[in-house]
Amino acid sequence: MILVKVAETREEKQACLDIRRVVFIEGQKVPKNLEIDGLDNTAYHWIAFKDGESVGTARVIKTDDGTTAKIQRVAVLEACRGLGVGRQIMEVIEQDDRLSFAKHYKLGAQTHAIPFYETLGYMAYGPEYDDAGIPHLDMKKARVIKDDNTC
Ligand code: COA
Repeated sequence: MILVKVAETREEKQACLDIRRVVFIEGQKVPKNLEIDGLDNTAYHWIAFKDGESVGTARVIKTDDGTTAKIQRVAVLEACRGLGVGRQIMEVIEQDDRLSFAKHYKLGAQTHAIPFYETLGYMAYGPEYDDAGIPHLDMKKARVIKDDNTC
């Protein structure tokens, strides 16, 4: 069973950082000073559990324009990929009322992950660029405003 929730406790937030260390710092050789960039204290964090074990995470920051939620650090432990964990993390994030300020969700996608985000409705735009030695493309998706009067 997969459960995705906001990381609230110190333990849950630490578990998010542990997953990022394994996936990005150890797995993808992202330099630690780029991965731990000083924005974690101002970000919202989500954690995914599979059968009670923490296996995935992502964070969101509000960008300076005030209308864009930037989704970052989407990571699932290698042994648990392809099971829908990443999809569920993204869907829970997009349904979170705390992001109601956002007109758009935006992210910098590692190019290998573009098909993953495309299945979720994100569209790539702009030129490819390097971040931490990994090729990226920016992607975005309009936030759907919930209409409570819709039958
Ligand atoms: N290429 C093509 N399609 C992919 C894919 C890939 N690399 N990874 C996932 N998908 C597709 C799945 O087939 C699935 O499609 P479906 O719903 O039509 O069946 C959909 O995307 C959701 O897949 P899911 O199982 O939820 O993805 P995941 O749990 O494996 O998580 C990542 C995807 C990218 C988060 C995961 O592979 C990961 O953590 N990678 C390493 C860290 C990373 O690169 N993060 C992205 C930073 S931008």
